[in-house]
Amino acid sequence: MANDRFQVRPADGGLLVLLPGLGAVSTTFIAGVQAIRRGLAAPIGSVTQMGTIRLGKRTEGRTPLIRDFVPLAGVEDLSFAGWDVFEDDAWTAARKAGVLEPSLLDAVKDELSAVKPMRAVFHRDYVKKLDGPFVKTGTTKMDLAEQLIEDIERSREASGAARAVMIWCGSTETFLEATETHRDVESFERGLRENSPDIAPSMIYAYAALRCGIPYANGAPNLSADIPALRQLASENGSPVGGKDFKTGQTLMKTILAPGLKARMIGLSGWFSTNILGNRDGEVLDDPGSFRTKEESKLGVLQYILQPDKYPDLYGDLYHKVRINYYPPRRDNKEGWDNIDIFGWLGYEMQIKVDFLCRDSILAAPLVLDLALFLDLASRAGLRGVQEWLSFFFKSPMTPPGVYPEHDLFIQRKKLANTLRYLMGEDMIHHLGEYTLETAPETATD
Ligand SMILES: NC(=O)c1ccc[n+]([C@@H]2O[C@H](COP(=O)([O-])OP(=O)(O)OC[C@H]3O[C@@H](n4cnc5c(N)ncnc54)[C@H](O)[C@@H]3O)[C@@H](O)[C@H]2O)c1
Repeated sequence: MANDRFQVRPADGGLLVLLPGLGAVSTTFIAGVQAIRRGLAAPIGSVTQMGTIRLGKRTEGRTPLIRDFVPLAGVEDLSFAGWDVFEDDAWTAARKAGVLEPSLLDAVKDELSAVKPMRAVFHRDYVKKLDGPFVKTGTTKMDLAEQLIEDIERSREASGAARAVMIWCGSTETFLEATETHRDVESFERGLRENSPDIAPSMIYAYAALRCGIPYANGAPNLSADIPALRQLASENGSPVGGKDFKTGQTLMKTILAPGLKARMIGLSGWFSTNILGNRDGEVLDDPGSFRTKEESKLGVLQYILQPDKYPDLYGDLYHKVRINYYPPRRDNKEGWDNIDIFGWLGYEMQIKVDFLCRDSILAAPLVLDLALFLDLASRAGLRGVQEWLSFFFKSPMTPPGVYPEHDLFIQRKKLANTLRYLMGEDMIHHLGEYTLETAPETATD
């Protein structure tokens, strides 16, 4: 069945995944794809690879795998290119990140070693805790953008891929707010030519991708494609965009638990979240500017899920606090504690404690895969601009102007599935199940 509005072009030819930042998340993603290709591991955590989708009524028994329902690129069709401020190839970077076992990395060494970074567009003003030698030089930010565009074209040619997507997996940049420079494409390009400090490196990558008509997603919380100028460019050039900040770890838990408590009208008086992590991401987040960016991203979720304006008695006095502490011994294995103060019938207080011993990059890697494949699908379906249906993957989802973000994981998942059904001309599923409603004969209609 096809939707008249959307003719999804087939996923013929390869797909190049462009990764600014070849750190823990990127290399865990690339190594995982290679291991899956070789049959060494299963794509656990990936909705595109393991998820199914129900079509029609429950009684019809039609529940294909998502990847059999929508035309997605396969893992065997992917190739990779990236940029970093360090010259390490993906195998060396993965060894240093220490997420995956050396034996697994050695099994895919040839493929990983072949991914060598290109020089980064980087400036310490935007990531204070990082300094690396492998950076581009240019007289203006526009000059740097042009260099990135050349990198993209060259990588695309070298890979032989038919299409490309870009996913920002670079460090979290300092907190920035949208300014006049970001107002429209014209002012942004002026800013690039005049080296405006309002333009962070991640925006230059996003600009380069959108100029090439390539989809772009931001896996970090910093302001990047979510400015009017780049939204406009995405619409004009036919690029889908998404972001921001991969929804993993503690925020994933929060957006699972909070909708459940709210569904039962359980009150919340406090939610204290603290994390310790010891990877490079943790070190970068030790800087107050980068932490502020992350904090904003993490704090927003409860407000939107709980709607305190509509439920003042339940959520009007909620105290929500998020802390992140850099603690090297834990490396990539983050520990996230949540203390949740709740109250029930007649205001009686209770507490929930969550102690999530998670692995940051293990949770994030499948999201990179899913985003790459879904953004490529969106592009082939002719979708452009903000892809709100991909909110499921983000802590701080981008939305079209005038629409508030949906943070409830279950609503996000339904939206994703319904969008896929819609693209393929299948009926939406509203879960009413009319045929299960027993009625007296006189009220039944034909
Ligand atoms: N679960 C998760 O791991 C998770 C969840 C949400 C968001 N994130 C975000 O994803 C990003 C990547 O996380 P990570 O654990 O891989 O961090 P990482 O520090 O291991 O890797 C980031 C890499 O980006 C490089 N880099 C920084 N600025 C760059 C630039 N301008 N151009 C090219 N490379 C640049 C760094 O040198 C580093 O190698 C971070 O911003 C992090 O906050 C991660």
